[in-house]
Amino acid sequence: MAEALTMDKIVALCKRRGFVFAASEIYGGIANTYDYGHYGVLLKRNVVDAWWRAMLEERDDVVALDSAIIQHPRTWEASGHLSGFTDPLIDCKACKLRFRADHLDTSACGRKPSKLAGDAPECELTEAREFNLMFETQIGPVKDAGSTVYLRPETAQGIFLNFKNVLQFSRSKPPFGIAQVGKSFRNEITPGNFIFRTLEFEQMEMEFFVPPSEATAWYEHWLRARFDWYTQYGIRADKLRLRPHDPDELSHYSSATSDVEYEFPIGWSELEGVANRGDFDLTQHAEHSGEKLEYFDQQTKERYVPHVIEPAAGVGRSVLAFLCDAYDEEDLGQDTRTVLRLHPAIAPVKVAVLPLVRKDGQPEVAREIHAAMRRRRIVAEYDEAGSIGKRYRRHDEIGTPYGVTIDHQTLEDRTVTVRDRDTLAQERLPVDGLAEELERRLRAAWRSPKA
Ligand code: GAP
Repeated sequence: MAEALTMDKIVALCKRRGFVFAASEIYGGIANTYDYGHYGVLLKRNVVDAWWRAMLEERDDVVALDSAIIQHPRTWEASGHLSGFTDPLIDCKACKLRFRADHLDTSACGRKPSKLAGDAPECELTEAREFNLMFETQIGPVKDAGSTVYLRPETAQGIFLNFKNVLQFSRSKPPFGIAQVGKSFRNEITPGNFIFRTLEFEQMEMEFFVPPSEATAWYEHWLRARFDWYTQYGIRADKLRLRPHDPDELSHYSSATSDVEYEFPIGWSELEGVANRGDFDLTQHAEHSGEKLEYFDQQTKERYVPHVIEPAAGVGRSVLAFLCDAYDEEDLGQDTRTVLRLHPAIAPVKVAVLPLVRKDGQPEVAREIHAAMRRRRIVAEYDEAGSIGKRYRRHDEIGTPYGVTIDHQTLEDRTVTVRDRDTLAQERLPVDGLAEELERRLRAAWRSPKA
């Protein structure tokens, strides 16, 4: 029986295999900020591609946008972020640490031996103060009130600001959506749960504009669709749940929100939020800007402010869920192998091409196979360094679905061994037609062997 999954195991694997590193590590790191290494970048890209595929490419009613990170500061007055996007914070005058008042019971005090914040006799906690989460910066060389701008805390507002532009150019009619992927920034105080909550993070958000009478039906639709997206890419359904927000949890703009939650090693936590934002945002921006942000239906002669259903996901948090769900330790008798059982579409590398030895013509055939994979746009990695066992282990930990081994027999009959990451089955297949065959297998339905 494998040991329970901990965040430490995920962090260690991510560092060991070049998925994610602590940012500014050589200077001692910077709080809640991470850098993605080679395999992390490939994994993240696959997650984002899968999102675009479901949200845009497979639909006729969604268009794309890439809006600026720094928008006019009045954006945040209208959206309510300047006045309301706050966390209650408490400072400790003794250790100079800052804690979220609502997370005090899980926040570690800065003193040793470690205690909870407020538990050591020296602790001197202040009253809670509301602290705005937006990062401020200045435009231009002079620092004054008029030059203050903000790094966006969500990508959504850039979509609302462009509602009119998109409506005009795309001739869309509600229901239609505008989708965007990009970085957002929040000055968060967190207990440090790796990439679960970071200061800068990528969001995948879609604002779906609907006639008011259809809002509830579309809210239900997107809840189900977003839940299914995670299972489609291999996350086990029993590790996911939908949790409706209690009325006192709802954001200022929302009349209904449900979270898609995943059972992370830190417990059930939000993976994505689906909110019914009503007409809050368009109405606010219309009032603050003086622009009409509404839809006029030529057929019915009806004029109305569309309501908005918003599925809002985090790229890093999705990556973390995919990693946690895929992580497995398999008992092989004398030994345990660590393997990432990632859906083939999400796996950073699809095929490892492994000559058994660096001589006897094997590297040449391996290069030929590698080139054939590339021609089919299959992300393959040529790897000839170290023993074959070590190379298999490395690719298991990266989550590579197939390993192709070129050996002395290959030179005689042009066949290779194909090793399946999940079953460990090995089979001999001809070199000719191998890329097509693996492409077919990589596209076939896949279910987590952990399910
Ligand atoms: N536009 C709505 C919105 O931003 P949210 O629930 O605050 O809603 C949506 O954020 C998603 O963005 C979250 O479900 C999470 O996946 C991700 N997210 C939010 N804050 C984050 C942070 N500090 N670090 C990493 N991901 C974050």
